[in-house]
Amino acid sequence: MTASDTSKPIKVAVAGISGRMGKAFVQAFFNDPVIRIVGAWGRENAEYVGLDIGQVAEVAGGARAGILVSSGFIECVAACSPDVILDVTQAEAAWRTATSAIGKGIRPVIGTSGLSQTHLKELAILAEKNNVGTMVVPNFSVGAVLMMEFARQAGRFIPNVEVVEMHHTQKIDAPSGTAMHTANKLAESRSHYNAKRVEEKELMTGARGAVHASGVRVHSLRLPGMISHQEVLFGSEGELLSIRHDSFNTKCFIEGERMAIQHVMTQKKLVVGLDQILFART
Ligand SMILES: NC(=O)c1ccc[n+]([C@@H]2O[C@H](COP(=O)([O-])OP(=O)(O)OC[C@H]3O[C@@H](n4cnc5c(N)ncnc54)[C@H](OP(=O)(O)O)[C@@H]3O)[C@@H](O)[C@H]2O)c1
Repeated sequence: MTASDTSKPIKVAVAGISGRMGKAFVQAFFNDPVIRIVGAWGRENAEYVGLDIGQVAEVAGGARAGILVSSGFIECVAACSPDVILDVTQAEAAWRTATSAIGKGIRPVIGTSGLSQTHLKELAILAEKNNVGTMVVPNFSVGAVLMMEFARQAGRFIPNVEVVEMHHTQKIDAPSGTAMHTANKLAESRSHYNAKRVEEKELMTGARGAVHASGVRVHSLRLPGMISHQEVLFGSEGELLSIRHDSFNTKCFIEGERMAIQHVMTQKKLVVGLDQILFART
């Protein structure tokens, strides 16, 4: 399907079908008239290869799609020729998939976190060279994107800020993609935060968190009971500004996933963040 052909449904294959995000995506778009799920895969040699995607994604009522989970990217592309790959797996796998997909003219929408700045630079070059729209979306939730944008704006006025991100204990990478993206957004407003006031001494390594190139401090909490939360704290003499976002379930990602998939069809280069879509509209 070409970028200009908007009359047809967009054929999407899901990488990471058996995961929390993959299942939620399939459940949300199972019978969607615009975003048509045509294939999926997950971990290599997984026990669910060959099963119906409706079964693996635990779609309500036990509905079946008549589409079987493939054993990998190559097999899936051969079976269903997707326009877009929605990737919610693990960083190295997402990177390999995206580079192969771009080479075949298939547009990746990467929700997977943990891609490095080097990965992003290489993806930008590859996407532009091949004229293939590519999106990396650190957070599909509109509320989270607004939290990052409000933080960026506050950074223009308040030079002291620390980010606290809080997630469930299954999360592998730290800091979260959202925290990294927040620090990058803050750096758009000011090149340096948190000017040194005293010579600090950490009695436990890491006590003061990780430091972004802009001086923004990032702290990662991993606790049972948490889902996905972030607070951006700005301190100024006599006041504290706290900008917080909480995701309670995967429903908050659906609208952003739809936006990203539709947007990537119109692009010929790398786009990072849902903010590029949301604020381009206003
Ligand atoms: N952008 C956003 O808004 C957003 C929101 C939440 C999470 N995330 C990110 O999305 C990713 C997935 O999150 P999740 O909560 O769904 O994780 P999850 O429940 O652990 O699911 C991960 C999925 O990836 C598969 N997988 C693991 N290694 C793989 C490999 N080498 N090749 C192919 N598939 C592989 C897993 O298969 P098995 O089940 O067989 O192991 C599973 O299907 C994470 O990076 C997370 O940080 C992004």
